[in-house]
Amino acid sequence: MYRKIQNTFGIEAQADRVLEYRTEAELRTFVSVLAGETVLHVGAGSNLLFTRDFKGVVLHSGIRLVMPVHEDAEHVWVKAGAGITWDDFVAYTIARGWSGAENLSLIPGEVGASAVQNIGAYGVEAKDLIEWVDCISLTDGSSRRFVVGECQYGYRTSIFKTDLKGQYAVTYVTYRLSKQFVPRLEYGNLSSLLAEKPGLTAADVRRTIIDIRREKLPDPKVLGNAGSFFMNPVVSRQKFEDLWALYPQMPHYDVEHGVKIPAGWLIEQCGWKGRSLGPAGVYEKQALILVNHGGATGADILRLCHSIQHDVAERFDILIQPEVNVL
Ligand code: EPU
Repeated sequence: MYRKIQNTFGIEAQADRVLEYRTEAELRTFVSVLAGETVLHVGAGSNLLFTRDFKGVVLHSGIRLVMPVHEDAEHVWVKAGAGITWDDFVAYTIARGWSGAENLSLIPGEVGASAVQNIGAYGVEAKDLIEWVDCISLTDGSSRRFVVGECQYGYRTSIFKTDLKGQYAVTYVTYRLSKQFVPRLEYGNLSSLLAEKPGLTAADVRRTIIDIRREKLPDPKVLGNAGSFFMNPVVSRQKFEDLWALYPQMPHYDVEHGVKIPAGWLIEQCGWKGRSLGPAGVYEKQALILVNHGGATGADILRLCHSIQHDVAERFDILIQPEVNVL
């Protein structure tokens, strides 16, 4: 029986059973057979930190169908199975000349998680592309479609992580992609890298994003990690003004309810970049990423997380929160 829980941190964790289903019907059967058992539905494990074995059944989607379901003059609607590797989906859309997802190239994880986590990078979030999310209830096996407005999307969050946490499995996500390429180059140095390029295509943007990510972010196959470990905190305008008076070089972005400060910068200021605590460490090129240098347990990573939170809170009076799900 398969018991090992896959996770990109490379942490040893086992469940009582790990089950993968291939169709919605198979998932419904699992739901009825597993009634009363503790169930955890996972994706690729690129956003999970296990601090102990899981006493229960882990479910994983093997639904990997992808198909265009509708189109008009400007857009195409593509329905994708939750178990498809996210970047394979991006590659599929770009290869067909459909744009919109290129800025999200190379984000680890699967299609299902894109809708749960509202993955984001380089000025684009999954919610900008999602039209509806098809789910099956883990309680009674019933189907439910959530249109994007019902998903309560916010920065790295959705109704599937909050009010309905653990209640539904995403089976398919339908995205609306563009037939006409409209570049989104507002983030960081993307425009200086690309804007001058005549005849710029979505494939060019994808290639550049892949290069940037490969340069800055560790490959989980080589060095265990779960991408950004913390979320970027949003502080009040007053709090920001107070900090800015002290740190005029502090990067920041205006957002709806205040000012977002990069947690990577806060952590680096506290001297944590590249430092380790036992086998757990802070990545040398991006302080937002915690890494497993080899043999780290979930508890080792969590200890590092708490030390960083403590130091950032003490120096800046900001409590940074994990983006990663700690189990
Ligand atoms: N910074 C530092 N030191 C660091 C890291 C960053 O000073 O060690 C500063 C940078 O100089 C820059 C700012 O922080 O001024 C922002 O850095 P970066 O562009 O690298 O982005 P980020 O805010 O650290 C977020 C996402 C990433 C996403 C990038 C690009 C979160 C939690 N993380 O990181 O997403 O790829 O923007 O859009 O929002 C992920 O979620 O797993 C992830 C990798």
